[in-house]
Amino acid sequence: MTDRLTITRPDDWHLHLRDGAMLAAVAPESARHFARALVMPNLVPPVVTGAQASAYRDRILAALPAGHDFTPLMSLYLTEATDPADVVSAYNQGIITAVKLYPAGATTNSASGVRDMDRIRPVLEAMAEQGIPLCVHGEVTDASVDIFDREAVFIETALDPLRRATPGLRVILEHVTTSEGVDYVRANDNIAATITTHHLVINRNHILAGGIRPHYYCLPVAKRETQRQALLDAATSGDPRFFLGTDSAPHPDKAKLAPCGCAGCFTASNSMAILAHVFEQTGALERLEGFTSLHGAAFYGMARNTGTLTLIRESADTPRQIDTIDGPVTVFDPGFTPDWRVAE
Ligand code: DOR
Ligand code: ZN
Repeated sequence: MTDRLTITRPDDWHLHLRDGAMLAAVAPESARHFARALVMPNLVPPVVTGAQASAYRDRILAALPAGHDFTPLMSLYLTEATDPADVVSAYNQGIITAVKLYPAGATTNSASGVRDMDRIRPVLEAMAEQGIPLCVHGEVTDASVDIFDREAVFIETALDPLRRATPGLRVILEHVTTSEGVDYVRANDNIAATITTHHLVINRNHILAGGIRPHYYCLPVAKRETQRQALLDAATSGDPRFFLGTDSAPHPDKAKLAPCGCAGCFTASNSMAILAHVFEQTGALERLEGFTSLHGAAFYGMARNTGTLTLIRESADTPRQIDTIDGPVTVFDPGFTPDWRVAE
């Protein structure tokens, strides 16, 4: 039995780092294990221009510990007023790696997102022409659609028409949670999907059975067990169209444990240990590296990392929380102690 596993240093293709004191508290957690992360732009106010992305990147770099080896890759928040020329120029200057589409109202800080897909057509066309990837939060926001159906309905009514209208656009279906999403990615070209750590571990029972557990509430909400199995199949299959985007999304406990709690699981600290455990349990430990370190870089057309990360077969508890000036942020509890830990 392998007791040490050394893999190419991983990347996180979907990460929330926030800003200010929260950024300072959480950035070192990602920098410890990951070489690069695609940083989400849903700040308040959102990161909508190349100049704002560049300034945010500077704030992230300033928040990192000395001697870090971590590169934040920036994304722009797409609005109906986004200027295609600004997107193209930010991309060509190397300021941004991708553009993020939030349907308005879909999740945390998404009020400035897109209501009318026709209005973003010129930006999408410019992106397709330049090869700029579009990251998509794939949920409809229509109040009449059941929250557990919102991803599947989005794929049919918004994503597929959008892709057909903009041939050649490279799309990442972020944090896929359904077999409909997995099947759609498998059946089409120019599309990949990120999968989070927590969606590989929890189903909706974890949130709701035997008491409500706000720390497991995120968006898209975890679905039923058969859907979790579909995600696990995709992640451990070796298919390069599926790769890690943790969607690690810190909120202070007081904002999670509230009558209307925020969506998000904070997984930056223990994702790699949990994933090693889950992949081994599935008999796919040798495919962990592809999922965490190779497939994403290939889809984004970037070189793989030259550094490595070593995992050791040793169960170790990760800290249950990290402290911020807004109080503690609870680290995602997978419900088991991983058999692996990262060698620090
Ligand atoms: O659970 C989530 N939290 N899903 C998202 O899409 C946003 C994120 C956040 O920013 O807190
Ligand atoms: Zn997210």
